[in-house]
Amino acid sequence: DKPLKVALLGCGVVGSQVVKLMREQAGDLAARIGAPLELAGVAVRKLGRKRDVEIDPALVTTDAEGLVARDDVDIVVEVIGGIEPARSLIVSALSGGKSVVTANKALLAEDGATLFEAARQGNGDLYYEASVAGAIPLLRPLRESLAGDHVKRVLGIVNGTTNYILDKMDSTGASFTDALEEAQSLGYAEADPTADVEGFDAAAKAAILASLAFHSRVTAAEVHREGITEITATDVASAKAMGYVIKLLAICAKSDDGRSIGVRVHPAMIPRTHPLAGVREAYNAVFVEAESAGQLMFYGKGAGGAPTASAVLGDIVAVARNRRAGTRGPDESTYADLPVHEMGAT
Ligand code: HSE
Repeated sequence: DKPLKVALLGCGVVGSQVVKLMREQAGDLAARIGAPLELAGVAVRKLGRKRDVEIDPALVTTDAEGLVARDDVDIVVEVIGGIEPARSLIVSALSGGKSVVTANKALLAEDGATLFEAARQGNGDLYYEASVAGAIPLLRPLRESLAGDHVKRVLGIVNGTTNYILDKMDSTGASFTDALEEAQSLGYAEADPTADVEGFDAAAKAAILASLAFHSRVTAAEVHREGITEITATDVASAKAMGYVIKLLAICAKSDDGRSIGVRVHPAMIPRTHPLAGVREAYNAVFVEAESAGQLMFYGKGAGGAPTASAVLGDIVAVARNRRAGTRGPDESTYADLPVHEMGAT
């Protein structure tokens, strides 16, 4: 069967793992999709940089727009991050009838509405499983498996860097700065780690989770946010002495009357007996409480190149199958816009 051509935008920690997995798993992926995947091109900011994977120089370009506009490209994978140029590239891909896979939590949380509208108008597919909690299958369960239920609350550890830092401070007494450096060297932290330690990354993820859980549109700006930069080694040690551990939590809840939403991110003291207290290193865990399903828990690697690339690959397979079947995923442009409480009450 005719290969499906994939354009990759960005070739950092995640992008290079995507190329690697596409290569290593080529046979399996082709069998699962029913047609082979072919790398059409890789757009990077700077040519000649050392990357984690060898790529034919003929495929590498700095002209992302030109790559997205190519008629032979079927699937665009965006792993650049940030708002622009990612937004324009995704919109132009969707308008041009391409399927898009993105890991861009900041963009989805700031302006998801524009992307979903572009997907609707272009009758295109937009999948973004990798944007929240890396490898953990979480967004599709919320969007699809639980579509017949009423989600009441989502509670989780969704930032690997801060969990790594707090865990190191708790288990080894490490200083905040040393623990952050370690997390950065392991490839967990954002390019600018302020996004992690000030809670912006978790707030973006909380907005995406709340949007899916409550079929509404929540933006990052509506999330009450507090990071972990004020937490000292003494705070961590005192919490420990009292039988608690400090974790950065994302909390999304629907009001009892179902008419409004509260979303917040802040450090919280958790009893050491609580399952979330056992989430170590850069792992993520998310609890979901739904009316009929009851309590669900999702746990796994929330950051890092390979785990995040696993989620991207899953989405590539999904959109590739959809293209072959002439169908597309759920239309999210129709979500309601429930009011979000000030300060994330509930
Ligand atoms: N910086 C993020 C984290 C990467 O630490 O969780 C995954 O989104």
